[in-house]
Amino acid sequence: MKISIASDHGGYKLKEFVKAKLIKEGYEVKDFGTNSLDSCDYPDFGRPAAQAVADKEVDFGILICTTGLGMSMVANKIKGIRASLCSDTVSASLTRQHNNANVLVMGAGIIGENLAESIVDTFLKTEFSNNERHQRRIDKIEEL
Ligand code: RB5
Repeated sequence: MKISIASDHGGYKLKEFVKAKLIKEGYEVKDFGTNSLDSCDYPDFGRPAAQAVADKEVDFGILICTTGLGMSMVANKIKGIRASLCSDTVSASLTRQHNNANVLVMGAGIIGENLAESIVDTFLKTEFSNNERHQRRIDKIEEL
């Protein structure tokens, strides 16, 4: 499975942690940066990483900034992206089952490494329900 990943300076350390975990587990990871703690602008990194999901170059995207809010706003501007900010595993599971989310967003200033690891595992291993009512609602999002 291929994953795009990106952060700004606020999410850099957690990005590196998540990236190392994914590589260790055999995922193919495409890292769109940032590559240091130097201050930068989250749209510059979140946009191409989310676009790679929309273009089907990768299966899922993971975006991290300090709060997760800016990255969510960026990703959800892109047609075909359903990005979900998750700070708990229930949300990570249900946004895959109900929303068929294709981008996971996390806030490095909100959650720690252990929780992030569980959220990533849950998100990547939970399938979309394929339920008709959920698909109908997703189709309505796509029409916006
Ligand atoms: C950077 O200071 C911070 O604003 C950014 O990481 C993010 O949380 C924005 O939504």
